Amino acid sequence: MVQQLKKSLLDVIQKSISIEYSAYFTYRQAGHWFDKHHLPGTSSFCFRQAEGEFSHAKSLEEYVMKRGDLVILNQPNINQTLVTDIWRTNQEVFHHLFQLEQENYKLYEENSKIARQEEDEVTLRLFTDILDQQLTELQEFEVIMSKVKAYSAVPGLFYHLDHELRKA
Ligand SMILES: [Fe+2]
Repeated sequence: MVQQLKKSLLDVIQKSISIEYSAYFTYRQAGHWFDKHHLPGTSSFCFRQAEGEFSHAKSLEEYVMKRGDLVILNQPNINQTLVTDIWRTNQEVFHHLFQLEQENYKLYEENSKIARQEEDEVTLRLFTDILDQQLTELQEFEVIMSKVKAYSAVPGLFYHLDHELRKA
């Protein structure tokens, strides 16, 4: 008999699912932004990242199902002002995405704490696995961020990064 999730943990997972879907849409939006700015490699990088967020959301949903609970999806947060008011330069978009990755890391750090408090070992393992992936993600992103900074200093150089990101 599968033990059902405690309400506190179910709430935390539902919230995380919605954050993952929000991240999915943010990356999709960034992909479209870069496509419009003639940076197809950077655009494809963002679309790939979006798929990663999508699969995080799905694995959280599958986990809730496995525990015998009902997934109730929340509306993801889609911020349209990003494209109309906030994203003006390549660096600004990357800065936003990097922040999003950092927030996600903190989210799973917090989630792990709650699972530990609730003494739910299985959920704790789920969160620490995601936390581990998120850490790798952050490290890779840091490298990209330093390149974004360096390649933005000279006009035209960004195309090199665009080429790199196409195959990354
Ligand atoms: Fe994610």
